Formats: sequence, C-alpha cells, structure tokens
Amino acid sequence: MCGIVGYVGKKPVVETVLEALGRLEYRGYDSAGLAVLNARGLAVRKRPGKLSVLADAVKREPIRSGHLGIGHTRWATHGEPSEINAHPHTDCSGSLAVVHNGIVENYAELKTRLLAKGHRFRSKTDTEVIAHLVEEHAKRLPLDRAFRQALKELRGSYAVCLVSAKEPHRLFGARNSSPLIIGVGKGEAFVASDVPAILDHTRRIIYLNDREAVELSAAGPKLFTLEGRPIRRSPTTVAWTVSAARKEGFPHFMLKEIHEQPSAIEQTLANRLDPARGRLVFDRRTKRFLDTLDATEKLVIIACGTAYHAGLVGEYMLEEVARLPVDVDLASEFRYRGPQLDRRTTVLAITQSGETADTLAGIQMAKAHGARTMAICNVMGSSIAREVDAVLYTHAGPEIAVASTKAYTSQVTALALLTLYLAKHFRRIPLAQWRRLLDGLEALPRLMRQALTSEAAAKATAAKYAGARNFYYLGRRYNFPSALEGALKLKEICPVIHAEGYAAGEMKHGPISLIRKGWPVVFVAPQSPVYEKVVSNIEEVRARHGSCIVIASEGDAHITRYADSLITIPKTDEFFSPILAAAPLQLFAYYVADANGADIDQPPNLAKSVTVE
Ligand code: M6R
Repeated sequence: MCGIVGYVGKKPVVETVLEALGRLEYRGYDSAGLAVLNARGLAVRKRPGKLSVLADAVKREPIRSGHLGIGHTRWATHGEPSEINAHPHTDCSGSLAVVHNGIVENYAELKTRLLAKGHRFRSKTDTEVIAHLVEEHAKRLPLDRAFRQALKELRGSYAVCLVSAKEPHRLFGARNSSPLIIGVGKGEAFVASDVPAILDHTRRIIYLNDREAVELSAAGPKLFTLEGRPIRRSPTTVAWTVSAARKEGFPHFMLKEIHEQPSAIEQTLANRLDPARGRLVFDRRTKRFLDTLDATEKLVIIACGTAYHAGLVGEYMLEEVARLPVDVDLASEFRYRGPQLDRRTTVLAITQSGETADTLAGIQMAKAHGARTMAICNVMGSSIAREVDAVLYTHAGPEIAVASTKAYTSQVTALALLTLYLAKHFRRIPLAQWRRLLDGLEALPRLMRQALTSEAAAKATAAKYAGARNFYYLGRRYNFPSALEGALKLKEICPVIHAEGYAAGEMKHGPISLIRKGWPVVFVAPQSPVYEKVVSNIEEVRARHGSCIVIASEGDAHITRYADSLITIPKTDEFFSPILAAAPLQLFAYYVADANGADIDQPPNLAKSVTVE
C-alpha cells in the first residue's frame, strides 16, 4: 500500500508533490509527509491523518522552496498511524530522507545490526532501517552506490525514494515487488507509485522493473540494475487523460466510475469484437496462448476481493459455455494451499491494479511449478501484467475509488470475451447460441447505459433502508457472485453496516435463522433457469417478515407481488446478467453509504491496492 512521489524540476516543489500525492491518496491515507531539498538543506513535514492535514501544516509552517522533493501517503503496516511513524524517515544526521511502499521483511535483523553500530531510531516502522542502512554504507561509498548496496540487503518488497542534502541535484528511486513508475517531462522528472499521480505534467512513462534503480535529475532519469549496470529504456506514452483521473463534477470517484461503466465495457470490447465477420479478435500473443489452451487440463482462476467475485462469474461462464474445467481460488489461499500445478495447468490472475501481493505471489508460484499463466488486468505495465505469459487488458481507465466498480464489470466482460472465443475456437458451442451471445456482447455498453437508469430507483430504495444495520444478499448460479459482490460493496464503503452474500439455496442451512421483521434481503433475480427457485427463496424470507429488495429483469410483472422494493435491469441472457446487475447493486450501496455520511472514496482501514500480504 502507500503512495510515493518524487519530483525534480523548476515547478514549486511543495505544491507539485502535494498535488501528486492527492492523486495517490486512494493508496493510503492514515498519514502523509514530504521532504524538500532547498538552499537550507532538508526540510521535512509529516502529519497523521489525511493529506489535507499535512497541506494545512505546510500552510502554517511554509517550507522554503526548492528544486527536489519526495512525498508519501501512508497505509500503516509496521507501527501505528502517527506523526513519528509517518514517512519520510530520516537518518541520524537528519540530512537524508526516505519514503517507502512495501514491507522490509528483515527489518528487525537490520535494525539490531544498525543499533549496534550506534544508529538512533525514532519510529516503529520497517522503513526507517533503509535511511540508516544507506547512511551506514555512505560512510565509505558514494551515495548512489550506498543506496544500491542497502537495497541489496533488503528482503521483501519496496518502492523507495531517497533524497540527501549531500546530493542536492539527484533523487534516487528503486523497486522490488511494489510499483514505481518514472515520468519524463521537459526539464523535469517524476517518480510515483501510479501513473495518475503525474498525468498533469507528463504522459511519457518509463516502467521500472523489479530490482532496478533510477537516478533522477532535471536532465532526466538514468536507470541501473542494483549491481550498477546502466539500463537503456525509452519512455512509452500512456493514453490516459488527466480528466480521466479526476471527478469531473461527480461528488465521489465511485459514482463517476459507476457511470463510466458503459464506456469502460466498450473499451474492453474495442478492437476485439468483429460482429460483421462473426468473430473475436485478439493480439497475436494472446491468440497464440488461447489457441493452445486445449492442452490445458485445468484452468485455475486466482484473485482477491471483487476480482475474485469476477472470477466466480467466470467459472460459470467458462465451464458452462466453453466447457473448460475451472477452479477459482482466493489468491491468499492458493499460494499457501499447496495446489497441484504443472504445465498442464493454466493459472489466470484477475486483477485491476496488477499489483495485489497475493495474486502476484500466486502467479509466481504457478510459474515456478511450470504452469502457464495469464492475467486479466487493467493497469498496463503492472507487475502481474509483466509476469504472465499473456495479458487481456480490460482498458477500463484509472479506477481511483477504493470500491471497485468499472474494474469489476470490465473484468466480467473480459471473461465473457474469453469464454466465447474459446467456445468457438474449440467448437464447443452451437452456432445459434454463439450468434446470440455475440449479439449480447455487442449490446453490452448500451444495456449498461440502460441499467444505470436504475439510479433513481436505487437511490429511493437506499433512502428507505439506510437506517438498517444488517443486510443479506442472495442470488443463484451466475448471480451468486453478484450477491457476494453486492454485499462487499455495501460493507466496504459503509462501515456502520454489516452485509453478507450467500447462494440463495444456502439460506435455509443457517442464515435464515436471523431473519425477522424488516430485515432487508437483496435478491438478484433476473430471468434465468433458476428464476422460480429464487422466487421460492423470496417467499421464505417474506414468510418471516423480512423485507425483500429485488433486482429483476425489466417487464417481469410476476415479481412485483413479491418485492417490497423493485429495481429493474434490462433483459439479457443470464450469461451477461451479472454485469448489468452490478449497476443497481453499486448504486444502492453508494446511496446507502452516502445517506450514512460515509467517507465513500476512502473507507477506513482500506486501500485501493493491497501490495502487502
Ligand atoms: O487490484 P486488484 O483487482 O487485484 O484488487 C483486488 C482487491 O483488493 C479489490 O478487488 C478489492 O476487493 C476492491 N477494492 C473492493 O471493491
């Protein structure tokens, strides 16, 4: 977790760093800090709380302007959120400062060694050892080599940035298993955890690989291996626009991103759907990978959180329509479960960020066992995207809100694409069904636009149930994952509410005991082969005087007599229904949270990208 930023150039450093940190706050927001090198040396400010607290502190105690600075927004792992534990961390002399994202796993051992050498520690963080370790090596090495030498001794993950008064014109950065990108501008350069942080300044990006270091000066970046060998790498230009990373008039990023879903889905389908010729198109590398998937005996999908729910939908799609044997596993379980993997297994990671630590470790483990690997991923050049044999990018654009919305529906769309391609390629689908589903795929952006017109109904329903503190979400088959995802959305953004998703058929095996008068149960009940079964489950809740909020297909007159509140989605094949059902589920969660005054884009204890275990 955590967001880091570094800047070298002529712009006002404090403002530039603060503004870039503002775009990274989704990565962590329990404390923030910055360090600037100016004519007087190193100035450091840090505060517990959100970035705005730091910005106020800097207003009250201004820092003399400089030409080089680093900043950090924190999500605590080692040491509680406090001023002392906030980054940057300095060495004993106070002239060298470090910001870090990741976990230094051997910090205790390094700290003992450094304490024995007389270093004085202030914080309880793992990060502070980096500052002292570099200081120690800099007693006999130039700073660049001392920095690289220190990194070689770290175990664990890091994206790190360092400035020192002894090297007033250079900023040092490096990464291992935590993201760090370099932005190349005119007479200025940046490092950051993520591209949106610097889109205001440049779209020319260099992706740093694991165990690579960068030295940044106004003349531009110089890349090295940790052994000091120079690396030549040219910048690539990213297509994301500045406005894509901003709220554009919406009160929250989450609401903006919910409304971006039709175009996000369009982007996922773009250049891949060729309805005129009745085919799906992939780039050569992905196609080659997919075309040989018949050699695979088992496809294992690994993911976390919302992406895991997308994977569960994928399991229904791929097994039923492409007739591939599929297992879906939480990446955090998969990596420690000792799964049977070999070259006949394909492991598919689903991840928005491409940086989730457990998913990345799962992929690395799969590779080590000789399995083939693939990812459905949103962030280009991310760690997972670079690790796997083939990537299907969702192209959903930057997702800033902690709660995943457009990333989810574009992941499910990508799974639909994958399923249909494989079903056709391996001749496992009747032509009529293929044509019908291809038409459905093409119609998705339009249908999603229509599904979003449920906003008024979702808002009115939310107003009715905003005072409830417990919710159940139920669904079957393709919409069992929808129930899990709907419940996750609500509980993650509205911390005063407990919500649980179940397969509707499981209800009478336990959860039903809690139902009493007015207990809200959200049913995801579009037209499907199990529609009648879901209606029976609705009856069971009604018999116990629970309140039924039903998401049903447009034109379903039958359901009106069972629903206390009804929200409709456009009619579609069951195969696509989880994508459309996501819209009212997200909107309902959003408006319930809003009515409860929740901090929607930055819920407590959560961060956008979980880059630590
Ligand atoms: O970046 P990823 O898709 O790998 O992230 C996985 C989860 O952390 C993520 O989906 C999380 O559950 C969502 N933010 C919840 O809305």
